Amino acid sequence: SFPRVAVLVGSLRAGSVNRRLARALAALAADRLAFAFVEIGDLPLYNDDLWTDAGGPAPVERFKAQVAAADAVLLVTPEYNRAVPGLLGNALDWGSRPQGKSSWAGKAAACIGASPGAIGTAAAQVHLKAQMVTLGMIVMGHPEFYLSFKPEDFGPDGTVVNDQTAAFMNAYADAFARHVARLSSGK
Ligand code: FNR
Repeated sequence: SFPRVAVLVGSLRAGSVNRRLARALAALAADRLAFAFVEIGDLPLYNDDLWTDAGGPAPVERFKAQVAAADAVLLVTPEYNRAVPGLLGNALDWGSRPQGKSSWAGKAAACIGASPGAIGTAAAQVHLKAQMVTLGMIVMGHPEFYLSFKPEDFGPDGTVVNDQTAAFMNAYADAFARHVARLSSGK
């Protein structure tokens, strides 16, 4: 079976270009990687008081179990005000706790993102990659994936109709599959 990749999308909107991108990448990579989309919209805003002796709130426990079951993590981030949306930061915060039980330490990971703007989430990803490294994720730094999203490049069924974009996404999936394999072989 293929390595499992937990996918976190930092947008809740129905028409999210980042979700469309993530779905398209999942389809392109399906013969190498098994993407599992993990819900983060039901996580409460981080509050230390919500931890009890029994653990965290139910969505948090579900979230951490889904990440634990995955071999790797893919963060798909929009760019909000040159930074990462609070939604995604909130999920990273929940995953980082309780102390000593972080969901992130040692996980193979990468981030990608799309925006209608010219720099395609590059500014947000600078922040995000620094945070991912600090969280102990083993981050794939190269290739980088910044997409200036053009709706006409993606078909209604989620396929990528721009050949250049499809080729880039395929190469990215190959690189990430190699990154994940390299880390699992060292286990
Ligand atoms: C944005 N957007 C945006 N785009 C960008 O390239 N750089 C930015 O700093 C920002 N800032 C920003 C702040 C806020 C609060 C919103 C709501 C939007 C535009 C953003 O890229 C666009 O809405 C994307 O479509 C968001 O991603 P999803 O939801 O389509 O995945």
